[in-house]
Amino acid sequence: MVRKYVTETVLADATGIARAARILRDGGLVAVPTETVYGLAARADDEAAVARIFEAKGRPSFNPLIVHVRDAKQAAQYAEWGDNADLATLPWPGPLTIVVPALPEAVLAPAVTAGLPTVALRAPAHPVMRQLLSQIDFPLAAPSANRSGFISPTSAEHVLASLDGRVDLVLDAGPTQAGVESSILAIREDGSWEELRAGPIDLDALHRHYFDTGLPQREERKTLEAPGQLASHYSPGKPVRLGVTDPAPDEFTIGFGPVAGDVTLSLSGEVKEAASNLYACLHEAARSDQPRIAVAPVPEKGVGRAINDRLRRAAAPSDQRRGS
Ligand code: TXA
Ligand code: MG
Repeated sequence: MVRKYVTETVLADATGIARAARILRDGGLVAVPTETVYGLAARADDEAAVARIFEAKGRPSFNPLIVHVRDAKQAAQYAEWGDNADLATLPWPGPLTIVVPALPEAVLAPAVTAGLPTVALRAPAHPVMRQLLSQIDFPLAAPSANRSGFISPTSAEHVLASLDGRVDLVLDAGPTQAGVESSILAIREDGSWEELRAGPIDLDALHRHYFDTGLPQREERKTLEAPGQLASHYSPGKPVRLGVTDPAPDEFTIGFGPVAGDVTLSLSGEVKEAASNLYACLHEAARSDQPRIAVAPVPEKGVGRAINDRLRRAAAPSDQRRGS
């Protein structure tokens, strides 16, 4: 798609949200804030609107989209819950996506599920998204609002850096909080479940909660990962070295805790703070004049697992790259 216009950005106040709702109703594309990253939203029941998401992102068509809903009640229009998942007790709204068998009669554009028998559902907690979803009577398909393969956006500026001219509107609510994409949990028909993507929600803790209430033990991963997770992405466009405590002079350094950097994920060494700063640091590293990037070690605890997962993908060679 050629760039035809400059995308308009509006503040996410009542007027801005109403405007976004109108554009979405008419089949347009709006970049919306969530508590994790900005999403590139279109109505999930409209084939032409969903096709525009794939076109704007340059996203491969085999990679399905998350369907954003108000709550578990709306989600039930699209999913076969089975007897196992007591959705009322899932931490929704929040940064948790669940992949479940799709209801055959669900009214969704086929491209949303990319032909899979399952659907990914999430009720986001961001107050702006919640207001928006309460003003429309359809769910929103929304991947992260970046060109496929690039760094995810945690601010309106990040969205414009890669999608200016490709979306109808950006709803600006300032920087996002959680900073990394939602945890993805697949619940299989037999009730077993597995983590498809690490994120802000500690799925092991969630599992312990469910295990007590009878949900079968998590199985070793034997099925396909989320299609968008198959290869690396989050690319800053230059080589990335991880676990660095002694950066070279030509490296832009992303610090953590005691390892100082040109920027830091968290001076006090807190993984939550690091998650919320991760993509802004990578965006800055991408923009810098330095030809290479070094990143300090980040502990593999809590949301640190999600941070390290994204960093490994950012550091993977570009021939393995296929993003979302
Ligand atoms: O925090 C988030 O999850 C953000 C915000 C905008 O909600 N969204 C997001 O979307 O990260 P995206 O498209 O960048 O990542 C969604 C992931 C992809 O890896 C995709 O392959 C996977 O979810 N996915 C979607 N539907 C699936 C399905 N039915 N089965 C397995 N994986 C699925
Ligand atoms: Mg993405």
